[in-house]
Amino acid sequence: MEPLANYNGVIMPLSEVRIPAQDRGFLFGDAIYEVLRIYQGRPWLVDDHFKRLNRSLSAIAIRGVDLGRLRERMLTTIARGKFQEAIAYIQVTRGSAPRAHAFPSDAVPLELLYIAEFNDPYRQDRERGASVITHPDIRWERCDIKSTNLLANVFAAQVAREAGCVEALLYLPDGTLTEASHNSFFGILDGAVLTTPLGNAILPGITRGLVMSLCAAAGIPIREHSLKRTDLPHVSELFLTGTTTEVLPIVRVDGSAIGIGQPGPVTRRLQTAYRQRIENFVSTSTD
Ligand SMILES: Cc1ncc(COP(=O)(O)O)c(C=O)c1O
Repeated sequence: MEPLANYNGVIMPLSEVRIPAQDRGFLFGDAIYEVLRIYQGRPWLVDDHFKRLNRSLSAIAIRGVDLGRLRERMLTTIARGKFQEAIAYIQVTRGSAPRAHAFPSDAVPLELLYIAEFNDPYRQDRERGASVITHPDIRWERCDIKSTNLLANVFAAQVAREAGCVEALLYLPDGTLTEASHNSFFGILDGAVLTTPLGNAILPGITRGLVMSLCAAAGIPIREHSLKRTDLPHVSELFLTGTTTEVLPIVRVDGSAIGIGQPGPVTRRLQTAYRQRIENFVSTSTD
């Protein structure tokens, strides 16, 4: 099924959307975005995603976007296409104006979303575990904003792919690991589940937040604490989290096994708890 777009309120096939050449998202990456997962026709964690969308809009001072309307457009588009297993991509740009770096005074934000079927590519990796590389984090100092400026992430993901790996764990010059190119990550060191503290160095992952609360609910000790590259030989388990990856065990980093080279017991418990949440959601939600 072709992805179905909603472009400034008009529903059309994604291939028919025409973005103006002077759009600042196109020219400068002056835009923010969200990606939501849709399970059995229902968008998952909508409030969290729209809260983060709002935060991103405020952070880059894009004003005048009606989030209630945008949310309605998303729901209408999902229903129109009768999507079941899908993703919703939402992007808001500062709009079109003659090219000049500083904000234009009168641009109207462009609101594009589309719904696309999701054929889960991570099924096998979720069972067997996946491999990652480490890669320098060369991004800017506002990685907490979900902006479309993703060139450094794109580079890192490409290096990972060329190494036959699913992701790149990013590290700062002092060896501090931040997150992956398009996922959050968790590691287990001395029995404690650790993940990078929120701040400017990482995106506040929605899945990360849910997994932290699943840890708390299951009585699994969880702490916000940054791991270093030098900790990697000592971690017993490692996993990625993200909207499409969910909870993805990592069993090799830079060619070396994590733990015994298989998904560990805590990762398995969290995968089960995560799946259970989704099952509860699809069976009970009217969202
Ligand atoms: C840099 C980065 N970190 C983390 C994530 C995971 O965030 P979420 O769980 O909200 O999908 C993403 C998702 O795209 C990302 O791009």
